[in-house]
Parts: sequence; C-alpha cells; structure tokens
Amino acid sequence: MDFTLSTEQKLIRDTARDFAQNELLEGVVERDENKQFPKIQIQKMAEMGFLGMMVSPKYGGGGMDTISYVLAMEEISKVDASCSVIMSVNNSLVCWGIEKYGSEEQKEKYLHRLSSGEIIGAFCLSEPEAGSDATSQRTTAIDKGDYYLLNGTKNWITNGSSASIYLVIAQTDIDKGHKGINAFIVEKDTPGLTVGPKENKLGIRSSDTTSIMFADVKVPKKNRIQEDGFGFKFAMKTLEGGRIGIASQALGIASGAYELSLKYAQERKAFGKEIIKHQAIAFKLADMATEIDCGRLLCLKAAWHKDNNMNYALSSSMAKLYCAEKAMKITTEAVQIHGGYGFVKEYHVERLMRDAKITQIYEGTSEIQKIVISRSILK
Ligand code: CAA
Repeated sequence: MDFTLSTEQKLIRDTARDFAQNELLEGVVERDENKQFPKIQIQKMAEMGFLGMMVSPKYGGGGMDTISYVLAMEEISKVDASCSVIMSVNNSLVCWGIEKYGSEEQKEKYLHRLSSGEIIGAFCLSEPEAGSDATSQRTTAIDKGDYYLLNGTKNWITNGSSASIYLVIAQTDIDKGHKGINAFIVEKDTPGLTVGPKENKLGIRSSDTTSIMFADVKVPKKNRIQEDGFGFKFAMKTLEGGRIGIASQALGIASGAYELSLKYAQERKAFGKEIIKHQAIAFKLADMATEIDCGRLLCLKAAWHKDNNMNYALSSSMAKLYCAEKAMKITTEAVQIHGGYGFVKEYHVERLMRDAKITQIYEGTSEIQKIVISRSILK
C-alpha cells in the first residue's frame, strides 16, 4: 500500500478544505443551535460535486475513488459534521447502493439527480425495535403481484424529511428470516408515506433525522433492488462502504478538534508561558496527533481495499471502530485543553464533542463493529 496522494487527490482534499473553511464555518454554530438544515450549504456542496463523488460519470457523478472521498469527508467533517453525514449517506449508502446493485433503469432514473444534488436520498434500515439487531425487521413488504405493500415504521433516518427517495429494507417472508428481506427504492410522494418530526438531538443537530411511516404504501415491483430476498445482503454490503464514510467523518471531527486545540495551546498563556509548553498539555496533543494519524491510515487502508476490489468488511469496521472511539476521546480532551472556553459554543470544540458521540452509534455501534471484527478474525 502506497498512500502517496496523487495530484488529483491532493486537489480534492485542498478544495474540500477551502470549501469547508470558506463556506461551512460561517453560521455553523447557529445552524447547530437552531437545528437548521444546511440547505444552501448542501446545494453548494452539490455544485462542487461532493454529493455523487464516486458515481460513474455515465450517471452524472465525479467518478472518483474512495480515497478521494475519505479525504473530502475528513475536511468537511472538521468544520460541519451535519453536512458531512448528509454527504456520507447520499454518497456511500444511497448512490453506491443503487449503482452497485440497481437495475439499469433504476440507475438512469435516480443517479443523475442524486449526484447533481437535485434530490438527496436516505437509507431506511433501523426500526423502533430493530437497531443493532438488523435482521429483526418488522416493516413488512407483502408481494401483491406487480407491486409490494409496505407497512411499518423506520427510525433515526438521516435526511428523513429532506430526502426525495428512500432505500427501504423490509420483510417479505418472515418464515425465511433474513433471506425473506427485500430492499426497495421508495419515492417520497408515494401515498401512505409520512415523515415524522425532526428529532431534537445531542449532536449533528442541523442534519434532519426523522421517523418514516408506511401505511399501505404501494411500491412497484420494478423498484425492488435485485432478486427476491436480497435485501439483507444489500444492507450489509452497502453498510460496509458506509462505515468508511462514517470513519472518515469521525476522523475529521477528531482532527478538527485537534487543530483548534493546537492553535489555542500556542496562544493561551498560564503560569507565565503558552500552555503548550506545559507537559500536561503537550502530551495530550502528542496523543491526539498519534491517534489521528492511526485513524487516517485505517480509513485509507479500508478505502484502498475497496478501490482495489478487495474484501473491506474487516478494514471498514476497524476504521469505524477506531476513529469513532478516538473522536470521542480526542474531542473530550480538546474541551479540556480549552478549559472554560471549551465549554461555550463559540469555540466549536463542545459541538465537535457532541457530534463525535453519534459516530459510535450509527451505521453500526462500536459494539457491532467488534462483532464484525471478532467474527472475522476468529474464522
Ligand atoms: N456481507 C454480505 N453478507 C453478510 C454480511 C456482509 N457484510 N454480513 C452478514 N451477512 C449475511 C450472513 O452471511 C448471513 O447470511 P447467510 O445465512 O446466508 O450466511 C446473513 O447476512 C445474516 O448474518 P448474521 O448471521 O451474521 O446476522 P446477525 O443477526 O448475527 O447480525 C450484524 C449481523 C453484523 C450484527 C448485523 O445485524 C449488523 O450489521 N447490525 C448493525 C446494523 C447497522 O449497522 N445499522 C445501521 C443503520 S443505517 C444508518 O445508521 C444510516 C444513517 O442514517 C447514518
């Protein structure tokens, strides 16, 4: 593995960095405080090509590799993790899922619009009683001939109210267990589909997370992804890539907190010298820098596996586990380094600490990543 970045990869990283600093930083505190969806910012991200980075140019995407996606995700997440989760779900769950497993008709119909930001998508797996235990789907999709009838509720759906299409996982044949699960593309304006209120969250507050309810929603059979019974495998394969996106988000949250802490520690004085000259602070920064470097290498390794058509289930779970745990630790230390200033919103690190928490939960909790990793290494 050689992680020397190409000229193009460096350009993507630097463009994302400039964009985040120039376009996302302003107003990020207020958007978080007011739970305000970053509509203008997401539109600009779409214009920059950040919403369909890995989609083939044939379907209107950027045709970039996963390493470029990781680099861009880190830079966007340093400044606004609400924007980066919207970007991550659209890229690595919705666009990737459709491009990899969708029919030609599905790809033509949705990918151009998803890549251009004309629409965004959501991924509906979690339910009130099926979060980590994803095979226990209660939402039903009954085969009615040329359509399926969907009934049930999905919870914690990122892009819940702003999405125009939903990838929905549902149980068609309970007797077949996970082999009776299907995945569908469901359009928002389908009769019987309703969106719940925006959740009032600890972090990533400006991204919209809602429930989605299905009451006798008719979904045409042509909207099913792949053959009957492929839905659980679809969800698992799609999440393998999604976890690279969330790992990079956690990495960005951590490196954003680190950069702010490094700057603060060089400016703030205590006991007659800059606090970075006190070993207690210098060692915290040394740990942060080391852990961020490890996390970045794990993200790049998982991305490299994916780009080289290798199995990346293990490396994506390792990257997500490590980066999420370190994001929580590093952002907490960042607040500590900032002292009282770290506890107020204007200094950003308290928001980064709140945002870090969700990376240990969504797209598979840290405990789920340990299940995936341990099963893989015990084989
Ligand atoms: N690729 C392909 N197939 C896979 C797979 C993978 N990565 N992982 C499991 N499978 C297959 C298994 O081979 C098995 O099939 P067979 O019986 O044919 O062999 C089947 O799926 C069931 O697998 P398990 O027996 O391992 O199932 P399990 O009940 O033990 O659970 C799990 C496995 C890994 C814990 C899974 O339930 C899981 O990943 N849970 C977490 C769910 C999750 O990540 N949710 C996130 C919600 S989405 C989100 O957060 C998006 C957002 O908005 C930000």
